[in-house]
Amino acid sequence: MHILTSVAEMQKYSRSLQRQGLRVGFVPTMGYLHDGHVSLVELAQRHSDVVGASIFVNPTQFSPTEDLAQYPRDFDGDSAKLQSAGCQFIFFPPVQEMYPDGASTVVEVEGVTSRYEGAFRPTHFRGVTTIVAKLFNSVLPDVAAFGQKDAQQVAVVRKMMQDLNFPIQLLVGETVREPDGLAMSSRNVYLSPEDRAHGLSISAALRAAQQLAATGGTLREVEHALRSQLSPAIALDYADVVDPQTFHPATDSSAEWLGIIAGKIGRTRLIDNMLLRSIPQ
Ligand code: PAF
Repeated sequence: MHILTSVAEMQKYSRSLQRQGLRVGFVPTMGYLHDGHVSLVELAQRHSDVVGASIFVNPTQFSPTEDLAQYPRDFDGDSAKLQSAGCQFIFFPPVQEMYPDGASTVVEVEGVTSRYEGAFRPTHFRGVTTIVAKLFNSVLPDVAAFGQKDAQQVAVVRKMMQDLNFPIQLLVGETVREPDGLAMSSRNVYLSPEDRAHGLSISAALRAAQQLAATGGTLREVEHALRSQLSPAIALDYADVVDPQTFHPATDSSAEWLGIIAGKIGRTRLIDNMLLRSIPQ
């Protein structure tokens, strides 16, 4: 497995693969990998010839009060997981390589970033789209895979790719869950057993809302099911039903309803989502 740490060597490696007619698949990550990341590698493998991942804890998507310094890191464990998943390269740049002194350009998507995660973490998506654009320009992939667990990030990255004409196929992998229903996340390591028990009410609330939507519940009933099942130990940021493309609140006539929940248990912020309804148009 190749480990590349500079943009120039990454671009050179990718171009050499593409000259041989190979399609390059890419999974951007911040490391501390779990089975959700491995499933994205497998998804990218089904659509390309050579797959690699980046491991880069991106400082610009954390606010000063967030957990950048504590964010879990384990390069050796991650590279072993990527190797056994069949990855052929890891792009592992230092911060200075991605943000050299004097870098002053940002990528910012308007509209879909204004609510929910964008409202609670005002600089977050600008950091995400700036680094994803830079990673795309470094890895030069033909295909890139992102997880549905970060549904608003998927909508924002999709809009950026359309608006800036990135010639890359976007793949979205389903959320991978623990056997008890908790959505896999690198931040789950912070949860005590008690926190975790409260956290399970998030996926339970989403499933209850999905069942109600499947039996013809109105939007108001579905929203009530989503909010009333949550543990009071969760300091809720939002529990809402939205259009998954725009992240505007859904209406009774919206074709798709996506249930989205975010909140803190102790110092750990959890987010999750589920498609509650999809009416073919
Ligand atoms: O989803 C993540 O892990 C990050 O937001 C990403 C896409 C790797 C950008 O830093």
